[in-house]
Amino acid sequence: MRITTVGCGYLGAVYAASMASIGHEVLGLDVDQRKIDGLNEGIAPFHEPGFEKVLAEALASGRLRFSTDYSDAADYTAHVICVGTPQQIDGAGADLTYVHAAVDSLLPHLSDTAVVLGRSTVPVGTAASLRERLRAGGSDAPLAWNPEFLREGFAVKDTLHPDRIVYGLPEDPAEAARAREVLDEMYAPMLEVETPLVIGNYATAELVKVSANSFLATKISFINAVAEVCEATGADVSVIAEAIGLDDRIGPKFLRAGIGFGGGCLPKDIRAFMARAGELGVTEALGFLREVDHVNNRRRDHVVNMARKALGGSFTGKRVAVLGAAFKPDSDDTRQSPALYIASKISGRGADVVVTDPAANERVHAERPNLAIAEDAFAAAKDADLVLLLTEWTQFKELDPVALKEVVGTAHMIDGRNVLDPQQWRDAGWTYQSLGRP
Ligand code: UGA
Repeated sequence: MRITTVGCGYLGAVYAASMASIGHEVLGLDVDQRKIDGLNEGIAPFHEPGFEKVLAEALASGRLRFSTDYSDAADYTAHVICVGTPQQIDGAGADLTYVHAAVDSLLPHLSDTAVVLGRSTVPVGTAASLRERLRAGGSDAPLAWNPEFLREGFAVKDTLHPDRIVYGLPEDPAEAARAREVLDEMYAPMLEVETPLVIGNYATAELVKVSANSFLATKISFINAVAEVCEATGADVSVIAEAIGLDDRIGPKFLRAGIGFGGGCLPKDIRAFMARAGELGVTEALGFLREVDHVNNRRRDHVVNMARKALGGSFTGKRVAVLGAAFKPDSDDTRQSPALYIASKISGRGADVVVTDPAANERVHAERPNLAIAEDAFAAAKDADLVLLLTEWTQFKELDPVALKEVVGTAHMIDGRNVLDPQQWRDAGWTYQSLGRP
């Protein structure tokens, strides 16, 4: 299959390289010339384990190239929309500017056999309106929705070995048949190994994606709400998570209590879902997601308060080491990062904050010049009055409390991800606090 990906950010670049790696001819399109030049040279514009290897192999195979010239799309059949749908600057809904621009840029170049596929996360109703946009622009190309479920840090694996594939097909039987034919060919290697295939209409496919992310967000906020009760009672949230997770109706995943969820997906997706429900007149249906968002925000502020108390009531003139800035480990993504939120809040209240992150240092330096950056945990913690572990990178989980104590001013650790062994740290002479654990 000859495929274009429109948008070469996280989703599009990984998708383009992965699809080329399974034998398709792929053209990655984007408006950002620097990004495109880098990708053509095998340079990833973001930190993602395993991606540069797949990219290098795909480029070497001759089946993958990247371009800013949309007229190159004319020779391709499947056009996959992979652009971002960030939160609106002045509202809770999703900003569809890039999705509309993607369709408009493709329109003049769609051949008679072209099929347009959407992978971006969009509010329900978007696919139907994009189909109209294609028709109004003079194209008969069938459009299908095919949401993605990749996680940062596992993006290549999730693209090549998805746990399910979802098709949202158009109502018109001929259009649906053509879209299905193209999708089946694109995903043939995955379908051959019996990856579950779920088929619905446009609205169903759009809702599958936002429902999945909302459920994951709800699970995290649920356990974080339980952590709040644990803090008032002396119970241990990690033991509760282990015990309830053993019930296979609940499952152990996404029950790690801590400073909560961030990133470019979960926070904006639950807000966009609520905003869309409001437009559809079913606000109450998703009222609980507002609480999910509140619990999540509350945990960050709780850690800021814990830090202030740990420092004797004031941040002024205190030195605070922050281990981790990315919204999760194995990523350099700092969008909506709880770690960066806490670091910035504490810095804004007068502390000298030194941040270190194995992948996000450069990004933090560019985005938050007020935060000092250190090469590693030991450099960050030098003479610190307080150390905060906020992103659970392996190198932080494996820190030696005895060695780290040698460099700090005061041995006080707040573990915002509940990943260190309390006993080990206390035995080494630290005041150790975590979230929802005694
Ligand atoms: C999320 C979904 O997990 C993917 O399935 C989805 O495809 C993707 O969004 C998307 O919409 O594109 P991602 O944003 O990469 O993926 O991150 P997650 O692994 O979901 O983690 C989100 C946040 O939740 C992180 O800040 C993480 O630290 C936090 N988290 C996760 C917890 O606080 N506790 C947990 O138990 C799990």
